[in-house]
Amino acid sequence: MQEVIPTRTLRDGLDIPVIGFGTGGLKGMDGAQAITSAIHNGYRLLDTAYNYENEGTVGAAIKQSNISRTELLITSKLPGRFHGYDDAVHAIQESLFRADLDYFDLYLIHWPNPKQDKFIGAWQALIDAKKWGLIRSIGVSNFLPEHIERLEKETGVLPSINQIELHPFFNQADQRQWHEEHDIATEAWSPLYRAQDITNNSVLQQIADKYQKSVGQVILRWHYQIGTITIPKSTSPQRQIDNRSIFDFALDYEDMEAIAELSSDNGRINDQDPAVYEEF
Ligand SMILES: NC(=O)c1ccc[n+]([C@@H]2O[C@H](COP(=O)([O-])OP(=O)(O)OC[C@H]3O[C@@H](n4cnc5c(N)ncnc54)[C@H](OP(=O)(O)O)[C@@H]3O)[C@@H](O)[C@H]2O)c1
Repeated sequence: MQEVIPTRTLRDGLDIPVIGFGTGGLKGMDGAQAITSAIHNGYRLLDTAYNYENEGTVGAAIKQSNISRTELLITSKLPGRFHGYDDAVHAIQESLFRADLDYFDLYLIHWPNPKQDKFIGAWQALIDAKKWGLIRSIGVSNFLPEHIERLEKETGVLPSINQIELHPFFNQADQRQWHEEHDIATEAWSPLYRAQDITNNSVLQQIADKYQKSVGQVILRWHYQIGTITIPKSTSPQRQIDNRSIFDFALDYEDMEAIAELSSDNGRINDQDPAVYEEF
């Protein structure tokens, strides 16, 4: 019998599992099959986005799974091209239509796009969509503290969560600390560094050998111990199980210190700095 993935409570009261399933790139029949498999393997939090063009695939997987909608938590995200208030309201409705859902559990602004500078309008749309019952909890993704401060100053509402690039090679220590001080949950995207080089890293491999776990499990355990919510993606049923089976061991102080040493300021996967990067 599989252990249930622990949950944590967001500032607005929503309980979400600390490990969810990323669906970026999972489309069509194969994608739906991988997502259905993840649900059957115990994942309850699914992460999609308008820009992944797979909200329909996620909706189909939910139906195929025969798991009640109320047991699942579905996240989607608003693209940069719809940041104005009216466009954002329409995009949220379109996301729901594509997924064939009545509500999202979480909806995030995907990127702040600071040069465009329209994220306040988008945030107001998310605030209203929550009031209308279309979204249970509202958050952001790739926002820097300065962007979140503006949300609070101009609307009085802080996000429940910020989904950011975070893995051992870019561990976001300062931003995590800032989130903690503001009671905002940190969620990690590409938590496994998109699997690039992870199994070639001797520090991670040595720790994995010590606990007789995989490198992926060591990384996901490290995320859990630093308090991040993760959304690893895998098409492999076995790796889906492995990635959520991290609650029967604990990394010690030396392991955590050794992993902290792997991080560097230029450790981002594709150099997507939210201060300048824009995604539409
Ligand atoms: N907000 C944003 O801007 C943003 C940006 C990027 C991603 N995301 C979200 O974050 C999710 C996860 O990120 P990601 O998909 O980029 O990367 P990831 O989850 O870090 O890595 C996925 C890759 O790792 C492999 N993998 C999975 N488990 C493994 C394990 N235990 N050992 C070795 N390899 C393993 C997968 O291959 P197999 O499929 O073959 O297992 C896949 O190639 C996305 O799916 C998406 O939902 C959000």
